[in-house]
Amino acid sequence: MTATAEHAVGAKVTRLEGSDKVTGKARYASDYPSENPAFAWIVQSPVPRGQIVGIDVDGALSSDGVVAVLWHGNTPTLATDDPELAVLQSDRVSYRGQVVALVVAESIEAARQGSQMVRLRLRVEDHDVTLAEDSPLLYSPEKVNPNYPADTEAGDPDTALANADIVVDARYQTPSYHNNPMEPHATMAVWRDDSLTVYDSNQGASPVQAALAKAFSIDKEQVRVVSTHVGGGFGSKGTPRPIVVLAALAARTVARPVKLAATRQQMFAFVGYRTPTIQRVRLGATSDGTLTAIVHDVVEQTSQLSEFAEQTAVITRSMYRSANRRTTHRLARLDVPTPSWMRAPGEAPGSFALESAIDELAFALGIDPVELRARNEPESDPETGLRFSSRNLLGCLSEGARRFGWGGRDPRPCMRRDGRWLVGSGVASSTYPARVQPSKAAATALEGGTFNFQLAAADIGTGARTALTQIAADALGVPLERVSVALGDSRLPEAPLAGGSMGTGSWGWAICKAAEALTERLRSTGGQVPQGGIRVEVDTSSDVADQTDLARYAYGAQFVEARVDVDTGEVRIPRMVGVFAAGRIVNPLTARSQLIGGMTMGLSMALLEESIVDPLVGGWVNTDLADYHIASYADVGDIDVSWLDEDDPDLNPVGTKGIGEIGIVGTAAAVANAVHHAVGIRVRDLPIRLDKLVTHSLSSVGEDAQSV
Ligand code: MOS
Repeated sequence: MTATAEHAVGAKVTRLEGSDKVTGKARYASDYPSENPAFAWIVQSPVPRGQIVGIDVDGALSSDGVVAVLWHGNTPTLATDDPELAVLQSDRVSYRGQVVALVVAESIEAARQGSQMVRLRLRVEDHDVTLAEDSPLLYSPEKVNPNYPADTEAGDPDTALANADIVVDARYQTPSYHNNPMEPHATMAVWRDDSLTVYDSNQGASPVQAALAKAFSIDKEQVRVVSTHVGGGFGSKGTPRPIVVLAALAARTVARPVKLAATRQQMFAFVGYRTPTIQRVRLGATSDGTLTAIVHDVVEQTSQLSEFAEQTAVITRSMYRSANRRTTHRLARLDVPTPSWMRAPGEAPGSFALESAIDELAFALGIDPVELRARNEPESDPETGLRFSSRNLLGCLSEGARRFGWGGRDPRPCMRRDGRWLVGSGVASSTYPARVQPSKAAATALEGGTFNFQLAAADIGTGARTALTQIAADALGVPLERVSVALGDSRLPEAPLAGGSMGTGSWGWAICKAAEALTERLRSTGGQVPQGGIRVEVDTSSDVADQTDLARYAYGAQFVEARVDVDTGEVRIPRMVGVFAAGRIVNPLTARSQLIGGMTMGLSMALLEESIVDPLVGGWVNTDLADYHIASYADVGDIDVSWLDEDDPDLNPVGTKGIGEIGIVGTAAAVANAVHHAVGIRVRDLPIRLDKLVTHSLSSVGEDAQSV
């Protein structure tokens, strides 16, 4: 750590809790000790749709060590208005794997054993879990997430397409993807009288506190949510999930602390996933590559329980200039779990389609894909007409091209061969909105010249704790060692969740405001700190005003080299270059990790990840890490991450745009574009598995290729 640096922001500070984590001192939700805990095990529906006619729990109750079985017939009514959290409240089964009973026992083994003795009697109904472009269930949602119109139109895209010199019209598909954080969802719940404490793995203690207070009809002050350390979430822990409610229900029923941790397999059913998408993109252009029409139509799914409308085509509204544009979203309400947040919701699948289509257009026109993007750079946000607070997409593209060695690229596919490998390169743009939310924070000056900041922020492994400490140190103008930040506890001032790449900007804003208030107070005391310290508390609600005055986005460019084995169709990605413009980078060390992580997840999305639906059983069949493949060390080559210095005064006091999500945006398209350049095959349905390439008999494709 560069403790003596004049500014902590911008310094490569190692994770403050790093040694706690590697020595096992850092506690995650289910690590917390308690006296006399009981353990819960979930019973899941084996069918996707139907009615529970009866549950026979006698066998379970007489099984060794079982102390209780909860099901809809004996579970207290919850006052939640969130259908996802209304667990064990109804005899309806809305998706395969839905929780239908909970067994509580003296040990985790006894609970699991007991769960196998629960007998369900089900009236099974016909189900539909298959997303199709012509599904009779498709409807138009009113809004897509978080609050965009579902459909937008500008100009006359149909006429523009009819009159275009050239048209790209292609369908792209992405499968369901499942969030797989290292730490599964887990809770330990403890009741004392009418007060509830949960040690819970989540992306925001304050929202979980509010949800539990509502569900159990108690005051927020009676609920404490502790989530000091969280082993990842990728969105799946962004909203309160069923586990925390189940643990609290069980703990109240048996009047003992209850631990409940999801297994990896169970997580595939009820912690959320990214909706599959079917996307049709139509681009019309003049022969010089000027876009005259952009149409992006999306079909995706939601559930019987609630509506989740991924904003897949929203990226297309603001990325490139075109006088004529239309974007639409259609949903099918299927007998599936409700899709949920997953890293760059909307932008991740949407950019695969848009950035693949741009590459198809560049190829068809014989224009370099970097140059084509430059020719369609908008002056202002195409959708809203608003000024960009800053937009450095072209800077990212040119710097990325330089670092990658893009110049002089032969655009023809199938022209480079290295032994058995056909070699290609691809590019795609990235973007992600730069948003903030109101937050509270407190700051305390202590005797001896140290300072403590407090807020219910979440460090889900991103390095947030470290970044916020850096921000706090600079805001006070004191060395890092004299500042600490407490987070991950709902007793601390209320803060928004770690999500939407908003954490650092939102929490950092509150920390800056608290530092300012504290400095003011210290000035009035002449710098004297009384015994017990001086504490101030602030709220940025009035500062974080309307954010619709400007178009605020982070940008990036991704360059990928792909190699395809001519005999097996195996794809390898030896190197990737990502250049980002994301405002001020608070900590280059942890920021780099975030961006590498995002790009790795994008590579994983491109080549490996796919939740496979069996329409007959009505659910996914590859529900563990043996069958659901995630890129691991050997799949990832050299990743070169850098960023442009960006000083954007229109964001927040720290000047950040957020870096958690942009790294995944565009990566899959860059990989697909590179594969096309290598072998001349355009894979439009992810993942790019070898069977989609090998059928094309690649060995003859590369015969005329030059050696590289
Ligand atoms: Mo992220 S999907 O906004 O937690």
